Amino acid sequence: MSKDQTRIAVVTGGASGIGEECARQLRDQGWRVVVWDRHATDGEPTVDVADYASVAAAASRLDGVDLLINAAGIAGSRDPVGRKDPAEWAQVMAVNLNGTFHCAHALYEALRARGGVVVNIASVAGMVMMKGRAHYAVSKAGVATLTRSLANEWAEDGIRVIAVAPGYVKTPMIQRSIEAGELDERKLAAMHPLNRLATTQEIAAAMIALAQPPFLFMTGAVVTIDGGMTLGK
Ligand SMILES: NC(=O)c1ccc[n+]([C@@H]2O[C@H](COP(=O)([O-])OP(=O)(O)OC[C@H]3O[C@@H](n4cnc5c(N)ncnc54)[C@H](O)[C@@H]3O)[C@@H](O)[C@H]2O)c1
Repeated sequence: MSKDQTRIAVVTGGASGIGEECARQLRDQGWRVVVWDRHATDGEPTVDVADYASVAAAASRLDGVDLLINAAGIAGSRDPVGRKDPAEWAQVMAVNLNGTFHCAHALYEALRARGGVVVNIASVAGMVMMKGRAHYAVSKAGVATLTRSLANEWAEDGIRVIAVAPGYVKTPMIQRSIEAGELDERKLAAMHPLNRLATTQEIAAAMIALAQPPFLFMTGAVVTIDGGMTLGK
């Protein structure tokens, strides 16, 4: 990462939830932050990470990048396969998995030029199967595998690639499902031995810390931050 210049971060999904908190914490730490989101923030142009042309156009407007945080994502429905809309399956893959690939791919040369870092968001949902979540689980397992693939391919370019795999985090994505009656907050909390959901602050702080010293020897890791959820009962 550059030491003498202002450090530049691209944060996808930076208009809400974990991405928004990453953008806030990075700005507080003196970074210049460019948000790529389908919803506009601070007059920045909208970017659809599922659409490679949109991502490539946004990449062409940058003048350097030290850190790419891939936080854009969608949850999709809770219908089981057999009752799931195939178009919705494709959309979850397009945003969560293809979107992560699109952004990393479009920023490869820029990241290489500055010895940059990519931090992706996988999920415990890619490790512990939940009914009705097949598309989301597959997309997040794909993000974990993409993280290891990119870390392996790009190590010789000096680019580190890591991911976090959170348990449930209290963000607008989860809040919407609670309000729609699809999820029960107390039951969600009870799935984690620490008996609560994570805060966006906790997840963002971990993602930003892992991108910087002293974690420079870490690449290809998918770091579980789940209040013990994957430990079993
Ligand atoms: N909240 C959780 O419990 C939880 C747990 C594990 C992983 N995650 C993952 O963390 C990431 C952030 O989730 P969140 O809970 O903060 O969600 P959120 O809904 O609060 O924010 C997601 C952001 O992504 C943006 N986005 C969606 N589709 C996009 C697209 N095609 N192009 C550009 N931007 C797009 C949205 O506009 C929004 O600003 C997601 O990848 C999610 O899967 C969330």
